[in-house]
Amino acid sequence: MVSIQALSQRIAANTALIEQWREKHGVKPLSFEVGADEEFPSTVGFEDIEGARTAILEDTSTLQDLINGPSEVVRRVCWGAIDNAVQQCIYHFKFLEAIPLEGGTTYSDISAKVGLSLPQTKAIIRQSAMNRILREDGPDHVVHTASSSMLLLNGPMRDWYGHCVEEMFPASGKIAEALEQYQGSSLPEDSAFGLAFNTREPIYEFLARHPDRQARFFGAMEGVGKDPGHSLNHVVRGYPWASLGQASVVDVGGSSGFMTIALAKAHQNLTKLTVQDYKHTVEEGASQLPSELAGRVDFMPHDFFQPQPVANADIYIMRHICHNWSRENSAKIIRQIVPVMKASSKILLVEVVVQPCNSGESSPAERYMRNVDITMLQMLNTQERSEAEWREVVAEADPSLELTRVFKPKGSWDSIIELSLKLN
Ligand SMILES: C[S@@+](CC[C@H](N)C(=O)[O-])C[C@H]1O[C@@H](n2cnc3c(N)ncnc32)[C@H](O)[C@@H]1O
Repeated sequence: MVSIQALSQRIAANTALIEQWREKHGVKPLSFEVGADEEFPSTVGFEDIEGARTAILEDTSTLQDLINGPSEVVRRVCWGAIDNAVQQCIYHFKFLEAIPLEGGTTYSDISAKVGLSLPQTKAIIRQSAMNRILREDGPDHVVHTASSSMLLLNGPMRDWYGHCVEEMFPASGKIAEALEQYQGSSLPEDSAFGLAFNTREPIYEFLARHPDRQARFFGAMEGVGKDPGHSLNHVVRGYPWASLGQASVVDVGGSSGFMTIALAKAHQNLTKLTVQDYKHTVEEGASQLPSELAGRVDFMPHDFFQPQPVANADIYIMRHICHNWSRENSAKIIRQIVPVMKASSKILLVEVVVQPCNSGESSPAERYMRNVDITMLQMLNTQERSEAEWREVVAEADPSLELTRVFKPKGSWDSIIELSLKLN
């Protein structure tokens, strides 16, 4: 184990690297104040700087845990439920909207606007401030921070935050109960989410009956794309699209079409792109399509458990689809495409590929991977998969299909898994 002194020296050296880079490239100072950039400045093209940043994140976390000591590490994990509960209150009672972006306001004003007592309002804001979401800047005065103002200004991120605190957080408290009650089941209705919301419907059916939650979920999916590790750019740049020549793409379960739009804008050789999803989803997407893409991108209602209606496409892409479903159901979804593939067609699955511990992932990437694995478990009673498990899904889908390549774009949480028809 590296000593705390060695850790702090490494942190100092890497911090100096980042500061020099920041000054040389005119990047503004990092800050918690309103007006700060929403993300750490892009390090694309500066691999040493990204390496220094990742090392600082890993080393500061290790240093903190060592300095806290083993019991405090456990206490802090357990107190994490309070962090989530407080954020649920902040979102639910619209605390962020109650505070002007410029200048802030008083506790009594916030209390009147959110409809909670003064002591409750203070307790919630002061706990939230521990996570740098809102800040008390005087005895009776509260202002926004970089994180709270980002939530106010960035709709998709606010939707993702809302989905986390209003749907994922209640489901988290039911995981153990669901595992006990539904032992051995891989049915989506046997999830912690179902127990938390007292429903036997799988989440997508439940959302379809609750338009407000559904609209927030769509926004949340767009918000997921704003996470640099989930940037659509990883798909746009992470596959040899140009080598396809004039090509057609079907985005199966493509939601409102944001990934298709990004692909169409970046690659003029993709001449025909089709987004498929539930009817209400594609209608919403079609109504928002940028006019310059009208001739190239179309929208089609399609249930991906039914036979694929678009034959001979060059690419059938499914981003974050199969991880929502059990092995049997994922195989069934993929199987619907095989009969309409031409010899050169590819199916691309954009998914996390789970790695064992100590496999060289950075700790932020590993934490993300472990968290989404549990998210799938609690919301859909499924899990993320290793490469071997993806191969099992493909084999079960159709014996004529094989996994041919796996691309892992740098900085991406996801991999692009390419499936092809076997050559006879
Ligand atoms: C996790 S989201 C992924 C959306 C999008 N591909 C992305 O990259 O963010 C899953 C999508 O599958 C869609 N979906 C769920 N069940 C479906 C079905 N049976 N047929 C078609 N689409 C479905 C949902 O409406 C949602 O848009």
